[in-house]
Amino acid sequence: MKIFIDTANVAEIRDGVSIGIVDGVTTNPSLIAKEKRPFRPLVEEICSIVPGDVSLEVVATDFEGMVKEGEELSKIAKNVVVKCPLTKDGLRAVRHLSGKGIRVNQTLCFSATQALLSAKAGATYISPFLGRLDDISHVGMDLVRDIVEIYRNYGFTTQVLAASIRSPLHVVDAAKAGAHVATMPFAVLEQLMKHPLTDIGLKKFLDDWAKAGVKL
Ligand code: G3P
Repeated sequence: MKIFIDTANVAEIRDGVSIGIVDGVTTNPSLIAKEKRPFRPLVEEICSIVPGDVSLEVVATDFEGMVKEGEELSKIAKNVVVKCPLTKDGLRAVRHLSGKGIRVNQTLCFSATQALLSAKAGATYISPFLGRLDDISHVGMDLVRDIVEIYRNYGFTTQVLAASIRSPLHVVDAAKAGAHVATMPFAVLEQLMKHPLTDIGLKKFLDDWAKAGVKL
């Protein structure tokens, strides 16, 4: 499973990429707005840091506007994936942009029917929002499982990108469900690495080593 970080914060992205296990970045208008930096230099910097795909979202909601913005965004860097919302116009935009060789991440997916249509339209990634479904007492992970099954049944190449991830358990369950990608806040990525027994074990090894006075 690929690991993406869901942030537009350059410090977090540099930190994550330096570990060597971050495969890409997803952004959205809310995350970009949080950075309080001009859009173009910010996303150019992000694209230059990240080795893999960087999702940049359109803000137009009509077909023509999404296509125009998608074409502009796709020229920013080779690793840009255009993000379009899962609406009727968004599906048309995915069909149009993917037909021109522009890769699209279709976002704000909350149902299996939406995901089926997105794959038929030619999306490179589909982004089901797990946490936001959990927020309204639906099991977000069931949607990931349904999409993975449907895509497998028909050999769709659209990759399932588990989004709106809020905890390490979401990451484990997304991996078990067969999601191709999980995108998560930087804080969740840090949680994935940590275990109290690792810290306790390491301290004991180093204490024993120091007491014995052994040298490498
Ligand atoms: O990738 C989509 C994600 O940014 C949404 O996350 O936590 O705002 O629901 P959240």
